[in-house]
Amino acid sequence: LKVVVLISGGGSNLRSLLEQAEHADFPARIVAVGADREATGLFHAQDFRVPTFTVPYGSFDSREEWGAALVTQLAGWSADLIVLSGMMRLLPQNVLDAFAPRIINTHPAYLPEFPGAHAVRDAIAAGAAQTGASVIVVDSGVDSGPVLARERVAIDPGMGEDALHDRIKTVERRLLAQVIRDIATGAIRLEEYQA
Ligand code: GRF
Repeated sequence: LKVVVLISGGGSNLRSLLEQAEHADFPARIVAVGADREATGLFHAQDFRVPTFTVPYGSFDSREEWGAALVTQLAGWSADLIVLSGMMRLLPQNVLDAFAPRIINTHPAYLPEFPGAHAVRDAIAAGAAQTGASVIVVDSGVDSGPVLARERVAIDPGMGEDALHDRIKTVERRLLAQVIRDIATGAIRLEEYQA
């Protein structure tokens, strides 16, 4: 299974996936890592000798033109699966048209609780005793697609955002690798989620 991972930031979850994908029994290969900006996380791919690319959002006149350039890149890698891992930009319809439902995303909350870009902060602000981590099929909404895996994560009283996010990421990394395994083995059939 050829996987392309897309990031926007530090890529700590990407690094964990690169490490797990190196094991001989991992049934998928990360063929490239892309970003919508000069993301610092791209150096993780370079450390693992995985090719990288950027499709800088700011270089295009519209979301659609950015999306078209991203589709061209992704098609060029013959990606079987696109993994959003800390990719902080909604995909325009032309990307979904080209690859959905073969796009999955990891999110630091127990979806449908706390969708959006500030899930960890929102869970703390809500005074929740627990939140979670989720892996979903990407659809046209904001973290609204079908849940493939999710797991509860406890919030300790007075816990800060960074500490909670690190605790959540530990779960995300395990869930994401397992979902990719399941897609590669057919235990998860993404075609069932074709809109
Ligand atoms: C992860 O929690 C991911 O779910 C969210 O942003 C975080 C990215 O962290 N979208 P990193 O860049 O992998 O360290």
